[in-house]
Amino acid sequence: MATYDLLLLAGDGIGPEIMAQTKRIIGWFNDNGEHQFNIQDDLVGGASYEAHKNPATDEMMAKAMAADAVLFGAVGGEQWAGVPYDERPEAGLLRLRKDMELFANLRPAVCYPALATASALKPELVEGLDIMIVRELTGGVYFGEPKQITGEGNHKRAVDTQVYETYEIDRISRVAFDLAKKRSNKVHSAEKHNVMATGVLWKEVVARVHGEDFGGVELYHILADNCAMQLVRNPKQFDVIVTDNLFGDILSDVAAMLTGSLGMLASASLGAMGTDGKMKAMYEPVHGSAPDIAGKGEANPIAMIDSFGMCLRYSFNMGREADQLQSAITQVLANGLRTADIMQDGMTGVSTSGMGDAILCELEARA
Ligand code: IPM
Ligand code: MG
Repeated sequence: MATYDLLLLAGDGIGPEIMAQTKRIIGWFNDNGEHQFNIQDDLVGGASYEAHKNPATDEMMAKAMAADAVLFGAVGGEQWAGVPYDERPEAGLLRLRKDMELFANLRPAVCYPALATASALKPELVEGLDIMIVRELTGGVYFGEPKQITGEGNHKRAVDTQVYETYEIDRISRVAFDLAKKRSNKVHSAEKHNVMATGVLWKEVVARVHGEDFGGVELYHILADNCAMQLVRNPKQFDVIVTDNLFGDILSDVAAMLTGSLGMLASASLGAMGTDGKMKAMYEPVHGSAPDIAGKGEANPIAMIDSFGMCLRYSFNMGREADQLQSAITQVLANGLRTADIMQDGMTGVSTSGMGDAILCELEARA
C-alpha cells in the first residue's frame, strides 16, 4: 500500500464547490482502494489574495513542490479586476505552472455517448469523439519578455512577446508523439508559420523530432486558424493536436465545447520526470471559476472529479481505479442525471452535490 500526498487548491468561484465533491471521491478511494491519499488544502488565486495580498504565496508553492500531485479548482472573478497585474488571481495559476515546470498540458476532449445531443454540433459529428490536445504550457506569449504597457493617456503602447526555444518545442512534441502511439497514431501540429517566426521554428522542430524518432506516427502540419475551423467542421479527423500555449488555450476551449459542455473536461499539467523518478503534476478542469453561478450549488463537478481521475492514471499509475471512476461517471450520465450546464429535455436535474452523490453511488456499485 502506498500513501500519496495531495495538495488541494480550490481557488475561487465554483472552485470550492467542485473541490468539495472531489474530496468525497478521494475519501471513497481512501476507504475502498488499495492506496491512501493524504489531503492538504491551501489558498490560491483571489482567495489567497484576500488573505495574503498574494495569489500564490511561497508557503503554498513549497507545499505544491513537495506534494505528489496538486489538484487545482479555478481562479478569478470580477472583484479582482482592479488588482495589480502581477497580483491578479490568474498570476497564481501561472506561477504554479512555471515554477513547477509543468510544460505539458494534456486536454482530452471526449464526448460521453449520453451527451452527443448536448453538443452545439450535430450528434453524428461528435459521437465517439476522442481528441487529445497537447498544449505547451510554460512558454510562448504567456511568459515572454518584454511584457509591458508603456506611455501615457491616449498614447500607450502594449507589448507581449512570443518566444520559443528549440528544447521547448522538442520536448512537447515528444509528449504528443508518445501519446499518439498509445492512441490512433496521428498528430496534427498547429502553428502559424505563415506569419510567425515561432511558427517556422515550431514546424521545423516538430518535423525533425518526427523524422528522428517517431517515423511511424502520422504527422500533419496545420495552420492554427484552419485547425480551429476543422475542429468545428469535422472534429473526428483529429487524434492528438500539439500546439503552443496561446493556440492551445483557444483550441482547447473549442474542443471542449464540442463535447457538450466546458463543465465536462479535465486536464493534466505534467512536468519532466525528476531524478527521483517523480514527475511534478497538477490536475485542473478546463473551465474557469464561473462567478455567475458560484455558491448556488449549480456547478458541474465532473471536470474536477475527472481531473482526479487523470491524477490516478498519470501520477499514480492507477489505471484500474481511473477506469472505475470513468465508468461511474459514464453511467451517471447514461442514467439521465444532469447539472444545469448539460440539462436537456426529459433528463433529471441535479445540484453539484447531487452529482457527487450519484457518482459515489455508482462507485459503490462497482466496489
Ligand atoms: C486555461 C485558462 C487560463 C489560461 C487562465 C485562467 C489564465 O483559460 O487554463 O485555459 O489562459 O491558461
Ligand atoms: Mg483557457
